[in-house]
Amino acid sequence: KRLAPLMAMMVLVLAACGRSDLSTLNPQGPVAEEQFGLMKLAIGIMLIVIVAVFGISLYVIIRFRRRRGDNTIPKQVEGNHKLEIIWTVIPIIMLIILGVPTVQSVFNLAKDYSKDPEAVQVIVTSHQYWWEFEYPDYGIKTAQELIIPKGKTISVQAKSADVLHSFWIPSLAGKIDTNPGANVNAMYFSAPKEGVYLGKCAELCGPSHGLMDFKVKSVDESSFDRWVAALQEPVALPSDPEIAKAFESKCLSCHAVGDLGGPAYPNLTGIGSRETVGGILVNTDDPQYSNEGSVYDNLHRWIKNPDEIKPGNQMGKIDLTDQELEGIAKYLSELKLNYEQ
Ligand code: CUA
Repeated sequence: KRLAPLMAMMVLVLAACGRSDLSTLNPQGPVAEEQFGLMKLAIGIMLIVIVAVFGISLYVIIRFRRRRGDNTIPKQVEGNHKLEIIWTVIPIIMLIILGVPTVQSVFNLAKDYSKDPEAVQVIVTSHQYWWEFEYPDYGIKTAQELIIPKGKTISVQAKSADVLHSFWIPSLAGKIDTNPGANVNAMYFSAPKEGVYLGKCAELCGPSHGLMDFKVKSVDESSFDRWVAALQEPVALPSDPEIAKAFESKCLSCHAVGDLGGPAYPNLTGIGSRETVGGILVNTDDPQYSNEGSVYDNLHRWIKNPDEIKPGNQMGKIDLTDQELEGIAKYLSELKLNYEQ
């Protein structure tokens, strides 16, 4: 009975580990597979050591225990060359078995694809609490959703606009720190299969660190090309002049949409076709996710009070009338990029 809470906690912890989209134990690409291979090797060696040490200990404890009525002191031995050589050589061999592939992987994963014309170049910039993805070869920027062509090598240069964050896609690639200043970290990965992979910030960066998610979406190459082309298209302002005025003065002073607005804050181009709002709310008109009766409810909710969703974020509360709020949410929900077939 006393163990019940402990058991419940272990089940919870294991359940969390079992989330396949956040698990390094369910690799979906070559980089993650290589890292998982190293984990298996290290765990395998550890298991051998544990079984051997515990097995021998158990044997010795039972075999040489003091028996009833036996008060003699056993033969005292000190030093045994043969044994000492054996237990020095075995760990050395194990370390070599672990060390050689580890060093190989370290060099493998440090390969530089930043000049490779076949690779897709992405500059990742972390912000409190969102991710900016720039594709310098196409002159486009987006936020929160990294769209990639399946199978292609994605070459990442990662930095931060404010504090330390860490860029991590558990099922595709290991994490790298993003640093403020000139210290740019690089990595690469690829996703052979189409799909959506969850990414996370893996460095404590403030009150909304745990909410600093992003998505990696792997699509076929022609969809990717269409996405790039769609992102370069000019975008029209809301058709209602009142909403357009509010959107221009209150949103575009920071955000960019297509060719409109400022470049510094999350680029909203195509936000209507993103999986999430603010990186964490489901972007859908399914009433299941609705809490205020608006069909673009989560967009509505986010614009109304972003601090309620992601405490400490830089957007702050925007002064909008109900009508402006509804109009802007509707306009944004309709900013879709039709690139998937
Ligand atoms: Cu950004 Cu934690």
